[in-house]
Amino acid sequence: DWTMAAFRESAIARIREQVGRERVICGLSGGVDSAVAAKLIHEAIGDQLTCVFVDTGLLRSGEAEQVVDLFRGAFNIPLVHVDAGPLFLEKLAGVDDPERKRKIIGATFIDVFEAEAKKIGGASFLAQGTLYPDVIESVSFTGGPSVTIKSHHNVGGLPERMNMKLVEPLRELFKDEVRDLGRELGLPDGFVGRHPFPGPGLAIRVLGAVAEDRLAILRKADRIYLEEIRNAGLYDAIWQAFAVLLPVRSVGVMGDGRTYDNVCALRAVTSTDGMTADSYPFDHAFLSHVAHRIINEVKGINRVTYDVTSKPPGTIEWE
Ligand code: XMP
Repeated sequence: DWTMAAFRESAIARIREQVGRERVICGLSGGVDSAVAAKLIHEAIGDQLTCVFVDTGLLRSGEAEQVVDLFRGAFNIPLVHVDAGPLFLEKLAGVDDPERKRKIIGATFIDVFEAEAKKIGGASFLAQGTLYPDVIESVSFTGGPSVTIKSHHNVGGLPERMNMKLVEPLRELFKDEVRDLGRELGLPDGFVGRHPFPGPGLAIRVLGAVAEDRLAILRKADRIYLEEIRNAGLYDAIWQAFAVLLPVRSVGVMGDGRTYDNVCALRAVTSTDGMTADSYPFDHAFLSHVAHRIINEVKGINRVTYDVTSKPPGTIEWE
């Protein structure tokens, strides 16, 4: 794609001009945007960049490993991997309010990142994978009505507090353009094409209080669901698909025994920007098959439901 090749060249030139000989720290979240930003900046300034992956322990099955393998393995870009999962769980213990979860996760992320940045030392720039829609949204947040539906956590406030300048090479791009740029930079298709994933991660998909055992149950169900979606060739037709673990138990029967276990909801939506969305119209047979697999393979879940709510009036996430 010649447009992206041209963008890549001009972006590299701009990063070099902005940064000069100074050092940059880039926080990786496990998602596509920060990975594309990091790869681009690395092409521009090489080892003046240090990447820090704050692993919240709230990612999906296999996703933290994929980021580490990609950067250290395929790209040979040094990466500081901070396993902060236990700390996040400790801070989240007993918290069931969605907005409180977001605030705790945002604040903990900043603390961990700041501590790592201090250890590394000497960087005057902070790199972020901010996209154009993020820029627009933060503008409309300050100018718009004072109702916050969900406070989307990012590292806002961090640059001021750490007295750092920002490098945001993706600020002019939309999500699909970031994906094109990612491919142009040699990120694997499977990684670049990933569905959007919220910063607070699985903490807002385990409804109610978050704990390691509930995260583990959710990860297994979510993995089966996505595997079936990929096998059916539906992944790219869907904007986001995920499982949600409900704070509800229901009675079931398995073999000769009665069960009293968790309920899992499946969500899949089509959308172009996440602002409005429709529930994806799966075949009934597909859903039955997924439900059957989840109930048989995931200990702790005995009932599966499918969410047919559109946005509005629902939101994409359940919290
Ligand atoms: P909702 O649930 O508000 O989600 O319809 C719209 C899009 O935003 C994502 N989302 C978040 N992303 N931090 C994020 O970085 C958050 O706190 C957050 N909450 C929702 C959601 O996954 C969907 O893509």
